[in-house]
Amino acid sequence: MVNRIIDWERGTAIMDYDRELIAEPFRIKMVERLKLTTPAERERLIAEAGYNGFLLRSEDVYIDLLTDSGTGAMSDYQWAGLMQGDEAYAGSRNFYHLRDVINDLMGFDYVIPTHQGRAAENVLFTTLLRPGQSVPNNMHFDTTKAHVEHKRGRAVDLVCPEGLVAQSDYPFKGNMDVDRLDAFMKEHGRDKAPFIMLTLTCNSNGGQPVSMANIRAVRAVADKYGVPLFFDVARFAENAYFIKQREPGYQDKTIKEIVREMFSYADGCTMSAKKDAIVNIGGFIALRSEQLYRECMVWAVLFEGFITYGGLAGRDLEAMARGLEEVVDEEYLRQRVGQVKYLGDQLLKAGVPIITPTGGHAVYIDAKRFLPDMPQAQFPAQALCVELYIEGGVRAVEIGSVLAGRDPETGENLVPALEMVRLTIPRRVYTDRHMDVVAKTCARVLARRDSIRGLRFTYEAPVLRHFTSRFERV
Ligand code: F0G
Repeated sequence: MVNRIIDWERGTAIMDYDRELIAEPFRIKMVERLKLTTPAERERLIAEAGYNGFLLRSEDVYIDLLTDSGTGAMSDYQWAGLMQGDEAYAGSRNFYHLRDVINDLMGFDYVIPTHQGRAAENVLFTTLLRPGQSVPNNMHFDTTKAHVEHKRGRAVDLVCPEGLVAQSDYPFKGNMDVDRLDAFMKEHGRDKAPFIMLTLTCNSNGGQPVSMANIRAVRAVADKYGVPLFFDVARFAENAYFIKQREPGYQDKTIKEIVREMFSYADGCTMSAKKDAIVNIGGFIALRSEQLYRECMVWAVLFEGFITYGGLAGRDLEAMARGLEEVVDEEYLRQRVGQVKYLGDQLLKAGVPIITPTGGHAVYIDAKRFLPDMPQAQFPAQALCVELYIEGGVRAVEIGSVLAGRDPETGENLVPALEMVRLTIPRRVYTDRHMDVVAKTCARVLARRDSIRGLRFTYEAPVLRHFTSRFERV
């Protein structure tokens, strides 16, 4: 199949090429040696870690799919930028570069860097949210929800019904349920719901995209009730790529054009730059309103240091600016999202049940269907993570009953609708050959699933228990 490389600024074709002859659109300039371990060693290591992957040492992991956050490989262009860090306390040239890139890409005039995404949430919510108020979102990421609740607000998830169906071919499972949003705003009004949020892509149900039509419809609701709309944009470029692939009318637009249109409907955003800015640390708030910028500044100084560095060094700001320039390259995104789909397709071929369609940053295994006989009280997704590590040295993360925690009122374990294992793929780090090994690991564990034992707590952490709890086999 012949494809065309486009000059994304001008929209003109500059080269035709044959897709069959294209692999990863980068070459590896520096490598990190991976330590190999045997299944018997891993059996011992995971037992020592209390059957909790968070408590393993990363050097004991062969393929690390715990998260795509801060785990990407920076490019030569970004590394060169690190050498050009201006480590002034205030007003470094790197800040201005970052601000200009964000302005060009997203159209916002006011930028406040923060040390990561949740720090941006903290500053914005401290500025805007009062006790007893609610925030509607398609789906809050955990830290976003926790920061809303920290301000004694209520985080309300209003994702479309298709978004909660495990096996589906719906193209935009991240969409907001606009009718429910309208009803919610009608009931609460701007006094009780001072702003709306939209998470692009929607991490909590599988890295699922939100369509441009849905973004526009959410904007209309925000206008109707006179409230601002903020985006949580950890994976905005992946969202734009899906729009180009799936939404009628966007096939001939450049990724940059799609990104600009997406952001034209927002009053501002919070970003964890550890994802789509392909840096190891960083984040920011970007805003259209000067007034709101001034109000946020106060808290930014208190929580994050000065308003032009946000807990980061000048070199970190430079890497962030350059990562944002790079991430809207369609060839990069084709490989990135394509690699996630490649792994998903391998798993489907091997009969491993996954959430479909695959999202932008991870493949989610449906652990209830993988281990249909194991009661949820024995944490099947956590047990599956343990076996993936023992089998192939693959570290995945549980998104199921352990993460769900307990009902704060009754103290009972919450039972989530979806019991999942997330195989989260770092950006530009692993080759498709690594993905083959991950798929093979899952297939082998599937073949011996009848012998897999469930888990019970030996220590249960009182808050955010998935990070530090310890288990034993039932
Ligand atoms: N918003 C979304 C959609 C996220 O996925 C994350 C982090 C954050 C905000 C918070 O950003 O970690 O920089 O403070 N997600 C990571 C993950 C941790 O593994 O999915 P942060």
